[in-house]
Amino acid sequence: VNSNLVAGVETTAIFIPLLLRALLSVPERWQAVQRDRSLITNAVEETLRLWAPARTNRRVTTEDASIGGVPIPKGAAVLVAYSSANRDDEIFEDADEFELNRQNANKHLSFGRYTHMCIGAPLARLEARVAVEAIMDRLPNVRLVDDQTEQWLPHTILPRFASLELAWDVE
Ligand code: HEM
Repeated sequence: VNSNLVAGVETTAIFIPLLLRALLSVPERWQAVQRDRSLITNAVEETLRLWAPARTNRRVTTEDASIGGVPIPKGAAVLVAYSSANRDDEIFEDADEFELNRQNANKHLSFGRYTHMCIGAPLARLEARVAVEAIMDRLPNVRLVDDQTEQWLPHTILPRFASLELAWDVE
């Protein structure tokens, strides 16, 4: 039960503030998405790419392998860093930049790959889009509070914001 809660609830709860920050930190970006909500889909992918909610995962190799010339024997305990692959310059141009219209944004590895790829990925994508739309609909002129200190709660696999402060107008 516990690991399903982590997989299904925590990851998405960690992700939505990252997505809001990515969009609200550049007001023109937020406005662009407000004008054309279909852009949210790619914004979700680009945020997943740059800020993988699950930064890493522990795995054990089932056969001998070699990565970048480094031999990894069968049975080795490895820490797979999705966040590193997501910023690979050979796959993503200007990999450290957020680009709303990046064509291959969804080539990130934030949901893993192959047999154990995240079974909840479609739900997570849907939840993120619905959250952004609800905030747009219900919080007029929503914005990041100025001068807030960005604080992370450190964690090898699931680091997260300690807080994200938003302000909006009351009509
Ligand atoms: C932004 C949100 C999420 C992220 C970043 C995320 C990320 C991941 C990652 C990296 C894996 C491991 C993939 C691999 O080993 O190759 C995984 C597996 C899994 N995720 Fe998610 N996840 C998210 C949301 C969800 C949701 C909403 C659910 C369920 C409703 C869910 C259920 C699972 C399950 C059950 C697995 C294990 C799949 C298996 O081992 O076959 N995840 N997820």
